[in-house]
Amino acid sequence: MTDRLVSDDAEQPEGLIRAAELLRDGRLVAFGTETVYGLGADATNPLAVARIFEAKNRPRFNPLISHFPGADDAFRHVVATPLARRLAEYFWPGPLTLVLKRRDDGDICDLAAAGLPTAAVRVPAQNTALALLRAVGRPVAAPSANPSGAVSPSDAGHVMDGLAGRIDAVLDTGPCAVGVESTILDLSGDTPRLLRPGGVTVEDIEAVIGPVNRHHEAPEPNAPVAPGMLTSHYAPGLPVVLDVQSVQSDDALLAFGPPLNGARVTWNLSETCRLDEAASRLFAGLRYLDQQGTQAGCKRIVVQPIPETGLGLAIRDRLGRAAAPRPAADACQDAPSTQE
Ligand code: TXA
Ligand code: MG
Repeated sequence: MTDRLVSDDAEQPEGLIRAAELLRDGRLVAFGTETVYGLGADATNPLAVARIFEAKNRPRFNPLISHFPGADDAFRHVVATPLARRLAEYFWPGPLTLVLKRRDDGDICDLAAAGLPTAAVRVPAQNTALALLRAVGRPVAAPSANPSGAVSPSDAGHVMDGLAGRIDAVLDTGPCAVGVESTILDLSGDTPRLLRPGGVTVEDIEAVIGPVNRHHEAPEPNAPVAPGMLTSHYAPGLPVVLDVQSVQSDDALLAFGPPLNGARVTWNLSETCRLDEAASRLFAGLRYLDQQGTQAGCKRIVVQPIPETGLGLAIRDRLGRAAAPRPAADACQDAPSTQE
């Protein structure tokens, strides 16, 4: 049984208090952040963290992001380099995750960090999430609150669709403002490295700390790929085709800007070509087209071109993964570190 808790923290603290109690008790609570809904568990409690993998049906123990109400809280568990402090000052609270060396006296459990000497930390920009994290008073590990390999949830209904009955509660804070996951930047090596494009653009990061190694596992839609090389993720039921210039009558169209004519079902990410609006409507759009398109007999979801700049990088990354070949069952469980 999954409780649906509601809280706007000041006026209705009961839901939030209950959510914090559950988390401190080792239970699983999904909660809204500005990016997507996270499936939270006490990151200091290996049993609680193990439940995350179980609920998501994710046998491979990939490291998880730990969430904190403030930078000082985060830096109690990881080593704060000067670059990390600078980035935290500019972008926290916000959709930026930093990978840093774990401190010997930190409390993030090995399972949450998958045994690595580093840990991923972030401070989300969502008031109720911050109040929840303050109330828990411990690092909260949270991957996106969806079954492994499925489309990420950007509202509480999406969480229930995928995980009802498998988690203890969802704290409903409405739709997520940003809509794609955080940008992950690895600061544990000699040079900052982008592990996943996301809600903070690389351009904005580079404006603060200079050049970033942009190598990440972004799929290239038009490049020939060996089966199994690309990781299928965020995958709707219908196949996804990127960068189309025309549509067929049995297509479900994910439009960007003026929509192409002739599709059976259409969801427009942004009629005015705004990338922030497109990011916030991305996962809801994939779900909508998958459901409505399937009902209407559509054979595929086709996507209009989206620019490769700013938030477009994150949007294209997620769409590239949704479009990736889906080879063996469970292959998505063995994703590289940019997944989940
Ligand atoms: O926006 C977000 O980041 C959302 C919300 C809920 O905060 N969370 C999220 O978490 O997307 P998750 O676990 O789905 O994605 C984090 C990715 C994982 O695939 C993991 O491999 C990578 O970050 N990661 C975590 N710790 C890492 C580490 N120490 N080194 C390298 N990659 C790491
Ligand atoms: Mg995920």
